[in-house]
Amino acid sequence: MAENANKKISFAEQVAENPFQPIELEFITIDTVLDHDLYLKSDNKYVLYRKASLPFTMKDKHRLQDSRTKVLFIRCESERELRRFYESNLPNIIDSPKVTVKQKAEVLYQCATGIAQDIFENPSSKESIGKSREVVNNTIKLLGKSSDSFLQIISLSSHDYYTYTHCVNVMTFSIGLLSSLGIKDPVLLKEVGAGALLHDIGKAKVPIHILNKPGPLTDEEWVVMKQHPVFGYEMLHSTPTPERGKEIVIQHHEKISGIGYPKGLKGDAVPLASQVVSICDAYDAMTTNRCYQKALKPFQAFQIITHEMRGHFDPKIVEKFIQMLNLKKKA
Ligand SMILES: [Fe+2]
Repeated sequence: MAENANKKISFAEQVAENPFQPIELEFITIDTVLDHDLYLKSDNKYVLYRKASLPFTMKDKHRLQDSRTKVLFIRCESERELRRFYESNLPNIIDSPKVTVKQKAEVLYQCATGIAQDIFENPSSKESIGKSREVVNNTIKLLGKSSDSFLQIISLSSHDYYTYTHCVNVMTFSIGLLSSLGIKDPVLLKEVGAGALLHDIGKAKVPIHILNKPGPLTDEEWVVMKQHPVFGYEMLHSTPTPERGKEIVIQHHEKISGIGYPKGLKGDAVPLASQVVSICDAYDAMTTNRCYQKALKPFQAFQIITHEMRGHFDPKIVEKFIQMLNLKKKA
């Protein structure tokens, strides 16, 4: 990551470029036994510095700092392996005062999108669902540390639509919007974050030819597509996902006007948390390239949210969302 600081490059691309991956000294959690051998780079060669079986101590870190070493290297055979390293050191990276907000946002976004992708590829994996909690917790932590971190994470989002990047974006927007609404309760933030990250998990059960159809869906296809909130709720039934998270999954297409689905809930029957995720979902979907539609500019999305979608969400939530993204100014 250190050598790619100015480029937006995925873990997969990094590993494809070179299996020896640079790891900032500050990223390594002290007194842990790592999964990887550590290497130093000398005369363009990678030299073994420390076997994985030996814990990395503060003494090691100081010794390296004294010799002006800022970066070590690990050897990775796959993108997943590199991600695993970052996942296991994520709390240390987020907490470290010496790691920049930009670096924290980059590591967090890569871990979050990777885990979201794992969930969509294997929705019954309890391990991935468990990891998603860690990502939500670390996102809340990072967003709470600095006002800059929200924009840093959002700036990393892809302009092309992928279900897993969309879910990470919706989680980030939702936690940010709840905070803007004055909601600071960490339990509530975690539950909504989990629901937002998993909101479209039911799409894993929608046939790919419907999901990726480059044109309008037929009535029959819409019937299937509109089942995804129910599919998602059912898929999470036997997982340790909090009840509020599951509620968000099944309600993220409901509108207070009553025209949403699957139940057509109306007014107060749509909880604030579900409305928050719903508006973030709509905005992110509108502002990324889809197979059937080019991404809208933020001001165009603003027009749709304030005009065409008027009455679908509590106006107080809409107003805060517009303020949070400065949409009025952009319009
Ligand atoms: Fe959805």
